[in-house]
Order: sequence, then C-alpha cells, then structure tokens
Amino acid sequence: MISPDTIDKIMDATRIEEVVGEFVNLKKRGVNLLGLCPFHNEKTPSFNVSAAKGIYKCFGCGKGGNAVNFLMEHEHFTYPEALRFLAGKYSIEIDEAKPSPEWQQAQNEKESLFNLSAFAQKYFQEQLHDSAEGRAVGLTYLKERGFSMEVIRRFGLGYCPEKWDSFSQTALKSGYKKEYLVKASLSKTKDHLLYDTFRGRIVFPIHNLSGRVLGFGARILGSEKNRPKYINSAESEIYHKSKALYGIYFAKSAMAREDNCYLVEGYTDVLSLQQAGVNNVISTSGTALSTGQIKLIRRYTANVTLLFDADPAGIKAAFRGIDQVLEEGLNVRIVSFPEGEDPDSYARKKRPAEVRALIGENATDFITFKTRLLLGEVNNDPIKKSGLIREISRTIALIPEPITRSLYVRQCSEMMQVDEKLLVAEVNKLRRQQFNARSRQGPHSADDLPPPSAEAPARQANEGQQNNDSQEKELIRLLLQYGGHAIHFEVENEDKRMEEVGMKVAEFVVGDIRADQLLFDNRACQLIFDLFAGALEQKSLPGIKPLTGHPDEEVRQLVIDLLSSPYSLSKNWESRHRIYVADEEESLKPPVIQAVYAFKLKKLEKMILENQKQIREASASDDPDSEPLQQLMETNRELTAKRSLFANALNRVVTR
Ligand code: CTP
Ligand code: MN
Repeated sequence: MISPDTIDKIMDATRIEEVVGEFVNLKKRGVNLLGLCPFHNEKTPSFNVSAAKGIYKCFGCGKGGNAVNFLMEHEHFTYPEALRFLAGKYSIEIDEAKPSPEWQQAQNEKESLFNLSAFAQKYFQEQLHDSAEGRAVGLTYLKERGFSMEVIRRFGLGYCPEKWDSFSQTALKSGYKKEYLVKASLSKTKDHLLYDTFRGRIVFPIHNLSGRVLGFGARILGSEKNRPKYINSAESEIYHKSKALYGIYFAKSAMAREDNCYLVEGYTDVLSLQQAGVNNVISTSGTALSTGQIKLIRRYTANVTLLFDADPAGIKAAFRGIDQVLEEGLNVRIVSFPEGEDPDSYARKKRPAEVRALIGENATDFITFKTRLLLGEVNNDPIKKSGLIREISRTIALIPEPITRSLYVRQCSEMMQVDEKLLVAEVNKLRRQQFNARSRQGPHSADDLPPPSAEAPARQANEGQQNNDSQEKELIRLLLQYGGHAIHFEVENEDKRMEEVGMKVAEFVVGDIRADQLLFDNRACQLIFDLFAGALEQKSLPGIKPLTGHPDEEVRQLVIDLLSSPYSLSKNWESRHRIYVADEEESLKPPVIQAVYAFKLKKLEKMILENQKQIREASASDDPDSEPLQQLMETNRELTAKRSLFANALNRVVTR
C-alpha cells in the first residue's frame, strides 16, 4: 500500500496538463487548455483542462476528474496503478505503508478471489483452444453456432472438462486454497471432495469495468432437458450481480461514443451483436435488471435501447425494463425481434449490416411499443383502450423529469386521441399514488416529494422537479468557488453605531445554514458542506486537492462539475440581472445571500408540503394519537408566514 505521505507528494508534483497532454493534444484557450475529448467522438473540442484547478472536464460527454481519474478512465488503471504511473513520471520514490490487519485481510481475500478468477479464466480458455476434448467438444460447438475466433478470444471464452475435478485439482496444485475455490463458485464439495462446478460446459467470463474477471456463466453444450442450461457463479466478495453487466468492459467506450447502449437478454446475444459490429451491447447475467446496473450504464450514457424477443417472457421483461430505466431518469427505446428470434439467432441469419439496420431503424419509444403490442387486442373497444391508456400513463408517471413527462403525455394524447388535460390529471394522480405507496414503504428523499396539484400542466412542466437540488448545488458551488472570499455586512455595534464587518463567504453560508439546522437532500452536497463546516471549526478551509480527489465518487464528480461550471459568478449574475458591478467582492454578496435564501425557501416548501399532508391525514382519521389538527394548522400558519418573509427578502436581493 502506498503511504498517505507519498500520495500527497505524488499529487503535489502532478501537473494535470502534462498527464492529459500525453494522450490528448491540448491547445491553450483562455486560462484553460482545450482538446478533443478522448472519451467520446467529437469534431469540435469540448474537453477542458484547468491547470490551476488540476482538473479536466468534457462539456460534451460530462466526464471529469483529476489526473488520477483521467488515468483510471483512459488507461483503465486501478487507483494504485495510476498513482504508481504518476510516481514514475515525476520520479517520486514510493514509500509503502503498512495497512491495518483487517483492511489487509479483506483486501487479501478480494485479491485472492480476483487472482483465482483470472487463473480459472486462463485455464478454461487453454482447455478450449488447446486440449483435445475442449477443441472437439467446446470449440466445435461455438464454431457451429457461428462465433468467430476473434470474438471467442476477445471475450475469453473457455471450456471446463467433463472430468469430475480437473480444474479443482489443477488449482489446488497451483497453490490456490480450497476455501477460495468454493467461495468463487468454481468448485463444490461433496463428502469433503472437491468437484468442478462448470464441468462439461462452455464458460463465459464476466468482467468488471477494468477488465478483471469477477465470475462466470457456463452453458451446457446440447439441449438436455434435465440439466439447467446455464450455471452462474454465486455472489462473492468480488462478484455483486446487481452491480455487474456482462460485456460492459468491451462496450463502455462505444457506449460513451455512440451515447447509447443496447441491453440484451443473454451472453450469446452480446457476442453475436459484437460480432456483427455492434460494440455498445451489454446484458445482465441470469438476473433481472437492477437499479445498480442502470446507474452503471448512466456513467457512460443516458440512452438505453432494450432488445427483446417477442415471446411472452421477453415482453414481460421488456415492460419491466422500460419502467426501471425510465424511473432512473434515463431514456429508453425498444427493438422487438421477429417472433421466435432473439438478437443472437437473428444475427446468425442476417448480414451484419442488416442487423445494424434493424436495431438502428426499428427502435421505437415505449408508447409506440406498448400501443403496438396491446392495441392488437384492443381494436376499438373503449374499455380496453382506456386500459391501455392507463397502462401507458402508469409508465409515464414513473419518469422523474417533468419536461420529459409532459412530452410523453402529449405524444400519448395524440396517438390515443385523448384530451391532454385528462391525461395530465391521470398521470398526476398516479404519481401521487406512487409517492404514497413509496412513503408507506419507509424513508424517502426529497426526490419523492409529491407532485404539486394537478391543475396546471404547463406550469408543472417548467417548474417541476428536475432542478430539485439546484439550490443545494448552487450553494455548494459558491462555497467551492468563493468560500475564501470576503463579503461585508453592516451591523450595529454596542454603541448603536453602524459598523462594517467582513467575513468569508464560507463562514457566512455555513453559519447561517447551521443556525437553522438545515440539512441537504443531496448526499454529496451534505458531505461537501460538512467538510467546509469541519474545516471552519479549525479556522481553515478545505483544500482543493482533497476535494477534486475525494474518495467518494459522487462527491468528486459534483466538485468537478461545480468547479468547471462554465459560468463565472459575476458573468452569470450580471447577465441574469442586467447589473454591472465593478468590484468583485461587492458583486459576491447578493448572489451568496440569494443562494442561502433560495435554499431555505426550498426547505420551507418541503416542510409546508409535509405539514399539509399531515393535515390531510389528521382530518381524514380520528386516530387519537395523531397530532391535533389545531396544532398542525398553527404550524401551517407559521410556515407560510415565514415563507412569504423569505420570498420577499429573496425578491429584494434579486431586484435590488
Ligand atoms: N440464464 C440463466 N440460467 C438459465 C437460463 C438462462 O442464467 N437456466 C440467463 C443467461 O444469462 C442467459 C440469459 O439468461 O444468457 C438468457 O437466456 P436464454 O435466452 O435462454 O439463453 P441464451 O443466452 O440465448 O443462450 P442460447 O442462445 O445459447 O440458448
Ligand atoms: Mn439465444
């Protein structure tokens, strides 16, 4: 393990422009450097490097980070690998620290599992290509299915011999422990004897983002009825199925480049599409799609195209997938394959260009997809038609982003020939129901706030929740960019005379928010705020490097995004309010105060909604334990009075 001291030395010596400059041609542009983004395909440069801040940010694909992140992303280095690369580049001697025994234990265990998985992958691959049995049985099967040697090799496919324990014995002889063989699902025990889990099967290694093997899926060769077609590795310390996607290592750069990904059902679909030249393709491995997997996708693209068989199981999976993808705020399109075909079987019959054309041109949005499927049964039956409309509304209601929601409402109203207002009302009703169902389930975040009233569709579309945490982020942005700048206030001193006092932006913001004991809904915002609060207690401010290199991915991304915000404060402020302020420090005060007020106003509104909900519940039930209605109404009056106070104050700052 590299000692923290060495890490500091490395980070101090590192010049982001020199590191990125090794891979990207950078040109000076203002205070920054600009180049073509290496993470997506572009013709005009939008990849910015700030030498002063030590960060890069692409305004095209959104990627950003410090020098270490760049190396991890671009070179697929692990964190220590990136540090070692930089240490080499800047001739810094690495001082190895001794990690804690627990940490080392956990790390050793993971590392052992990774090493063993890599060993197993290599073993199975050699068996497939070099052993008589593997070639005769395994390779022949794969070739008969039409897989090219190139794809077979690239994906590291292998074969596990029929013999009871050939892999287990080889692994034991090579020094791998029995305990790990079992933990990694490679071997099973029976009467204290080890045998191979995947014997007599084609083995598909499953890789993580950096290309390390996490686990395996293994297919029988024929179509025996009484054995499961696939056996998959169980969860382990390195293999978390809900966070892994088959093929993502081979698809990720194409996903970013094409700004889309194809999600298919199985291993063979991934391979066949890759062979047909479709590189941005991934699948789950024998589990239903999870939100963790969708979040993984979102690191590369917000567009998902689902490719599904037209059989009932495929359709069911597609319906579920549509809801999940939309609920996570991504865009979804669907390609359904001709009856009885899946992407793999289709790709086997058609030429690559035809495959690419089918999935490129036949992708439909979910409304069209559902309508086509369900309208067949509906014809002109009004009851069935209203059932279809309700089904589509239910899905639209899952979309978190109000503008997107309103666009789908419009499309549905046009396609179904129903009044848009009615549809808006229906969607809003469903959102409230979904919200209530979720709040019954347990704690929720502000993202789950019920939509406001149903009346005004246009208003809702503009003001809805997509900027739910914009106030929080603006406040954090000011802390990050201007936390150390001074602002001045006039205060009355002991002699009742007005006196000017100066304080740092961070002191003002942190003090004010803390005085009201307000919390951020956005987790990363709260963490950054806490860093400032903690540093201020020591009379200092957090340094920029610990922030841009923060170990929490979410925090780091937010810091980078906010620091690379293309608006400088004064430009933003002046153009929005058509005022010109010569003195930078004078110009800082209004936006800072505004941000604090806006933040508080937002919190207040949340409390008001919560209070109104309690009022509704209290008036509906005669639960003797519920807070008396009178008291709730009193709180309501206090809150709304405070709201108009804040709103007026905010108005004064904005219009002054
Ligand atoms: N699957 C599984 N266990 C099974 C069947 C399927 O884990 N008993 C998973 C596998 O990840 C498989 C996916 O579900 O890839 C899709 O199943 P299916 O369509 O039956 O398999 P294909 O991958 O299409 O395999 P093939 O084309 O070889 O039949
Ligand atoms: Mn198949």
